[in-house]
Amino acid sequence: MIKIISVVGARPNFIKIAPVYRAFRKYTDKVIHKICHTGQHFDTNMSRVFFEELEIPAPDFNLGIHGGSHARQVAKIMIEFEKVLLQEKPDLILVPGDVNSTMAVTLVASKMGIPVGHIESGLRSFDRTMPEEINRMVTDLLSDLLFVSEPSGLENLKREGVDEKKIYFTGNVMIDSLVYYLPKINDSKILSRLNATEEIPAATAGLKRGNYVLCTFHRPGNVDDPGNLTDLIKMLEALPAPVVFPVHPRTRKNMEQTGLYEKLPKNLILTEPIGYIDFLALVKNAGLVITDSGGIQEETTFLGVQCITVRDNTERPVTVEVGTNRLIGTDFGKVKEAALKVLAGEKKEGRIPDLWDGRTAGRIVEIVLDKIHKS
Ligand code: UD1
Ligand code: UDP
Repeated sequence: MIKIISVVGARPNFIKIAPVYRAFRKYTDKVIHKICHTGQHFDTNMSRVFFEELEIPAPDFNLGIHGGSHARQVAKIMIEFEKVLLQEKPDLILVPGDVNSTMAVTLVASKMGIPVGHIESGLRSFDRTMPEEINRMVTDLLSDLLFVSEPSGLENLKREGVDEKKIYFTGNVMIDSLVYYLPKINDSKILSRLNATEEIPAATAGLKRGNYVLCTFHRPGNVDDPGNLTDLIKMLEALPAPVVFPVHPRTRKNMEQTGLYEKLPKNLILTEPIGYIDFLALVKNAGLVITDSGGIQEETTFLGVQCITVRDNTERPVTVEVGTNRLIGTDFGKVKEAALKVLAGEKKEGRIPDLWDGRTAGRIVEIVLDKIHKS
C-alpha cells in the first residue's frame, strides 16, 4: 500500500481536494489516503461547512494554526507538519492551489525527501506583491509532479525550465466539484431563502434569476486600505441592481474598522460567507459577478456567467481568453463603467476551456498510482 497525505488549509483548497478524495476511494486496495487540515481557515462557514457539503471526512490531522502574519502562519504550519510527516512517513503529499499552507508543507516535505504533487501548478500572475505568486513559485520549484489546469500553466513551467517529464496537463479540479454537485446546485433554494429574510431591502424588490449582481472581495490590495474599501462600496451603490455580497472574514474585519457597516447602501445585501452549494447557485443565477477571487473567475467561465475581475492581473488567463471573464483593473470608476455595460446587455460569449470536464481528479490519481511507489 502506498500512503498519500493531501494537505488543505483554506476555503478553495477544500473544494479542490473533495474530488481527489473521491477518486482515491476507488483504489482503497492500493492507497491509504489521509487528509491534513492546517487550520489556516477555521470559522465554521469557511471550513467545516465545506467538509460537510462536499462529503469530505473529518481530517486525519488538524494543525490548528488559525490566523497570524505570513511568517507566523508558515512557521507554525512547518513545525506542526514536520511532526505529521515524521509519524506517517507518506510516499507523497498532494497540495492544491497557492495559499500559505500549500507552500509551507511543500517546504517541509521536500526537505525531508518526500515527493510533492502540486495540483493547479504553473499559474502565474507575474505580480510578486501577491503572496499567492510567491507560494505558487516556491511550490512549483520544489514539486515532483506538476498537475496543470490551463495552457498558460504549461507555457509558464516550460519557460521556467521545469523538466517536462514532471508536468501533466490534467484539467481543473475546481470544476470537478462544480460538475459533481451541479444537480444539488440546481435544486438550491437560496434565492427564495434570501428573499424571505429581512436582509432584502424593500428597494430591491427581490432577487430573481439574472436581476442581481453577486460580488466577493478579499484581496488585501482591494480591502485592506480603508479608502479603497469605501470606494468599492460606493461603486456597488451606483449599480442599478441588487448586489449580494457574502463577506470574507478579512473584509468583514476591515469593514468593521472603517465603520462601513453603519452606512450601507440600500441595494446592498451583505451576508456571511455562504456554503458551497448555495454560493454556486447564486453564481449560476447572477446577471453579473464582480470579484477578485481566483476560483470564481473559473466557475463563472464554466457556467457562462458574465464576470468582472477587479484586479490588475490574473494567473488564470484562459478565463479571459476563451471564457466570460473581463480583467478590468482596480480603478473602481472603470469597474462601474464595465458593470453598467454588462447590465445594459453587453455580454461576452465564452466557451469551456479544454479538460474542464469533471474528470480531472481521476486523471491525477491515475498518474499518481503510475509514478509513486512504496519507498
Ligand atoms: C487566504 C489566501 C488567499 C485565498 C483566500 C481564500 C494566503 C496568503 N492567502 O487569504 O490566497 O485566496 O485565503 O479565501 O494564503 N480569518 C478568520 N476566519 C477564518 C479565516 C480567516 O477570522 O475562517 C481571518 C484571519 O484570522 C485573518 C484574515 O481572516 O485575520 C485573513 O486570513 P488568511 O488565511 O491569512 O488570508 P485570507 O485573506 O483568508
Ligand atoms: N465560495 C463559497 N462561498 C462564498 C465565497 C466563495 O462557497 O461565500 C467558494 C467559491 O466556490 C470560490 C471558492 O469558495 O470559488 C474559493 O473562494 P475564495 O474566493 O475565497 O478563494 P480564491 O479562489 O480567491 O483563492
